[in-house]
Amino acid sequence: MMSKLTDCVYHKPVMVKEVLSFVTERKRNVVVDCTLGDGGHSWAILANSPDTFVFGIDVDDEAVTVADNRLGSMFRGRFKATKWDYRELPRHLARFAVPRVGAILLDLGVSSRQLDQAHRGFSYWAEAPLDMRMNPAGARTARDILAESDEEEIETILREYGEERFARRIARAIVERRAEREITTTIELVEVVKGAIPARARHGTIHPARKTFQALRIAANDELSRLAGALRECFGLLESEGVLLVITYHSLEDRIAKRVFKEIQAGGLGTVRTRKVIRPSEGEVAGNPRSRSAKLRVIQS
Ligand SMILES: C[S@@+](CC[C@H](N)C(=O)[O-])C[C@H]1O[C@@H](n2cnc3c(N)ncnc32)[C@H](O)[C@@H]1O
Repeated sequence: MMSKLTDCVYHKPVMVKEVLSFVTERKRNVVVDCTLGDGGHSWAILANSPDTFVFGIDVDDEAVTVADNRLGSMFRGRFKATKWDYRELPRHLARFAVPRVGAILLDLGVSSRQLDQAHRGFSYWAEAPLDMRMNPAGARTARDILAESDEEEIETILREYGEERFARRIARAIVERRAEREITTTIELVEVVKGAIPARARHGTIHPARKTFQALRIAANDELSRLAGALRECFGLLESEGVLLVITYHSLEDRIAKRVFKEIQAGGLGTVRTRKVIRPSEGEVAGNPRSRSAKLRVIQS
């Protein structure tokens, strides 16, 4: 019998050993996994820390179903999966009358499941509607952004969220193209990007549309604008000597995490445990190329 999509595990969790080394310092712990995905980190925490309870949240309904199917019965009474946005974490914990917790993990970005499922529109390799919302009920798709923003706004998104050096040329090409016909699919966007950039940039080691896709994903999910505030709020939910762990995948996110942690430390409220950022080992990167850009930062209250 073929297994359901939600029974398969797509995502390999990143830096599990490193995450566990901080989270399992305490034997009895309440942990929030703010970005459940396929539940890889939650599984490792629950399996290695038998007296720990994990609240898992994700904005993606499918992630919540997958993680709940995987972990719900295996760790009965120690795991609670909920569709929720980590930017509203205080309200979530209040619903369970939990004022503070021992550890909070944010593993930012997109999951392999989301990337590999063509219909979600995250991948520049497969033809699909330009969606890119992690929360399927989210307000704006990538298609909406391309259709509704003016040329300057598109350029700013590409430059700021994608660090795309050809932002102006690509924004111009998008606007010219949509004057003829709306851009509705991933491959249509890839073709527009390829047509807009110089020939030499079309054949580099990274895909020519990678930065454009990253930028639109960040914009569609409003990933950066509330990250600093969310990190401060998460830190405020820690018990004394609790830990906040953040895994980032690009420099924009990492800069925010680094700055917020520094500010908290400068205010005398916490201690940065990762004076040098933690990166995956060579072995991990060889076995899981998607971990290549990951950085782990930890602060203790
Ligand atoms: C890199 S994946 C996490 C993978 C997970 N650690 C695992 O081991 O399978 C990031 C997840 O964060 C979720 N996410 C993104 N923004 C979110 C938000 N604001 N609140 C909750 N979850 C979010 C995404 O839907 C995605 O499933």
